[in-house]
Amino acid sequence: MISIHENYSLKSLNTFGVEARALWFTEICSEADLTELFSDAKWNSVERLILGGGSNILFTKDFEGLVIRISIPGIRKESVGNEILVTAGAGVVWNDLVNYCVDHHLAGMENLSLIPGSVGASPIQNIGAYGVELKDVFHSCKAFEISSGKIRIFSREECEFNYRDSIFKGNLKGKYIITEVTYKLSAEFHPQVSYGAITQELQKRGIFNPGIKDISEVVSHIRVSKLPDPATIGNAGSFFKNPLVTLNQFEQLQSIFPDIVFYKIGNDQVKLAAGWLIEQCGWKGRVVKNTGTWKNQALVLVNHGQATGIEVLNVSEDIINDVRKRFNIILEREVNIF
Ligand code: EPU
Repeated sequence: MISIHENYSLKSLNTFGVEARALWFTEICSEADLTELFSDAKWNSVERLILGGGSNILFTKDFEGLVIRISIPGIRKESVGNEILVTAGAGVVWNDLVNYCVDHHLAGMENLSLIPGSVGASPIQNIGAYGVELKDVFHSCKAFEISSGKIRIFSREECEFNYRDSIFKGNLKGKYIITEVTYKLSAEFHPQVSYGAITQELQKRGIFNPGIKDISEVVSHIRVSKLPDPATIGNAGSFFKNPLVTLNQFEQLQSIFPDIVFYKIGNDQVKLAAGWLIEQCGWKGRVVKNTGTWKNQALVLVNHGQATGIEVLNVSEDIINDVRKRFNIILEREVNIF
């Protein structure tokens, strides 16, 4: 049985910790709950917001519609031929799933340790960190089509994954609600240590033949040292995407800024470290009233306590302007603004 709450506070449901209220709010714990909800035509016609862990969202005002929080639980695993498939409910906390895989000696997710958020959100923005993206372990997902009430299975190809992007942010935005995700893991372990900081930390610990748990612990350690813990300082991880530029644009920039931090993508595209661009504009660790950027990572905007969503949004606008003036690059927000 679902319940609909009115004028519901979302403060504890977004990791920025800003106050905003939902005109209506409901929590969904199963596919049957979704069927029940949308059997009332009223909810088909109002503005809706699907909320997972609330770790990639900034509320700048009250939401004058229905907020649907997805809390579908459960993790199970099965072997199919040589593959091990792990399926989790969309409401499972992402890091609980990573820990489940690490504890069961299943390889593939360890580099994605400690990313805040929920399983259901993981395919939407193709979460990624330390040389691994969700698409590398994704098998399929189940989703509820709001208009028809039917369940559809999406394969990896159908999700059209890209850097922090998928079909659920594009053509199918707002049309489906992901109910569970299946991941393809491996009993064989080949550590992904292309990221310099991982190798350095392993060396420091005297680990030369790392196991799945070692990588998970090292990644968690690096994250904790660089990123603020949302439980104490409100934030939503990287606020902007790392911008992609053409090789030509990059070479022009590098001739003016020889220290620019970049990663080559294929033959003719270069990804720039947005954190570096922002830091160069004097923004690293800058405090603006209740908000600003994190002292160890300029790409992360923080709530020092009583910030409003508008204050954070204004700071992000100032950062975009400063980076545009200095580098002629327009930063794109990764965080969803409401
Ligand atoms: N840098 C600076 N100054 C800063 C921050 C970064 O100069 O203030 C430079 C450094 O040279 C650093 C490089 O930028 O070596 C890259 O920084 P970092 O390793 O922190 O990674 P990132 O590119 O800023 C991305 C993801 C993170 C992910 C890390 C690790 C995006 C938008 N962000 O950040 O994901 O954890 O790589 O793989 O792609 C998130 O999406 O919320 C997130 C935290």
